[in-house]
Amino acid sequence: MKNAIRHPKDFIIFILCLMLIGYSLPLAAQSPDTQKGLRDYYKSYFPIGVAVSPQALKNKEEATLILTQFNSLTPENAMKMGPIHPEENRYNWKDADSIVNFGQAHHLKVRGHNLCWHEQTPRWLFKDDLGNEVTKDVLLKRLKDHITAVVTRYKGKIYAWDVVNEAIDDDSTKFLRNSLWCKICGEDFITKAFEYAHAADPDAILIYNDYNTERPEKRERVYKLLKKLVEAKVPINGVGIQAHWSIYEPSQKELVASIKEFSSLGLKVQITELDVSVYPWEKNHRALREGETGAYTVDLEQKQSDKYAEVFKVFREYRNVITGVTFWNISDKHTWLDEYPVRGRKNYPLLFDQNLQPKKAYWKVVNF
Ligand code: GLA
Repeated sequence: MKNAIRHPKDFIIFILCLMLIGYSLPLAAQSPDTQKGLRDYYKSYFPIGVAVSPQALKNKEEATLILTQFNSLTPENAMKMGPIHPEENRYNWKDADSIVNFGQAHHLKVRGHNLCWHEQTPRWLFKDDLGNEVTKDVLLKRLKDHITAVVTRYKGKIYAWDVVNEAIDDDSTKFLRNSLWCKICGEDFITKAFEYAHAADPDAILIYNDYNTERPEKRERVYKLLKKLVEAKVPINGVGIQAHWSIYEPSQKELVASIKEFSSLGLKVQITELDVSVYPWEKNHRALREGETGAYTVDLEQKQSDKYAEVFKVFREYRNVITGVTFWNISDKHTWLDEYPVRGRKNYPLLFDQNLQPKKAYWKVVNF
């Protein structure tokens, strides 16, 4: 090197080369052990998680990406009541075990998702042998058996559980969703679910999880429920802001208001299912309309990067109450938003593209 730099001009060229290499490094494919990932940039803030299937963990490229970028896992479906408890006296542990084992082997945190929800429930749950709806006593006993079995199996391995998912109604004039849980048990199913989970693992962080929690009308109803639970001394520790967002919402103001309001109850906040759709939020399934191209334009890419930058800035500011940020799916190669709500419309809601490469939004999230 000494001989190579004989003239000041050589030195300038040498420095320029160094700068060029430094600038292009993050964009180049780097080996997993040298590449800095989201988990490293956010090391002193909060764990960065991702929702996974057992299949993704067996895919070499996806597993490598997970291990470089994330330090927390959430099973996307494997622990939901339908998949894990298909018959009253039979549990299907295989998929959930494989995710927990992967987490343990690689020193990743694991979140449990979820213990009580109105969707993806097993067929047998609400019916007796004759096909009649079960009584409140029977349903609570089933809930207790389920929660006790699942939480006990992963005690000490799962650090936080989404105990009750989406109990607030979609209709802003109503409070609790009129699910079979609510119809048969009233509000008690929520309280009991937390109590059963706490009894099975007193050290686990227990969370109420919901979507659209930044919209003022929903936020108020979620707050009302959380306040009731906290005042009744139900063992709840946190609230999950699902964060199925879009380039259009939430506004920074709405997001901050939710975080402040929920945490004012002494609860921790976790961002549990983050993605930023490039389309406006819709609830109901529908077919693709004429003229809907589903193209990921430069404009959408820019708006999405700006939204990601904005929400992560808020997350960093509230690091004292935010104890985890989890993305819902790994990359744009596969996202649940490809199917929902518009069948056959491709979406691009994550930080990695369809080739698992970091997108513009990724660099906005890590350059702070
Ligand atoms: C909800 C659930 C998740 C998942 C998403 C859609 O947010 O909590 O488990 O099913 O819907 O994939």
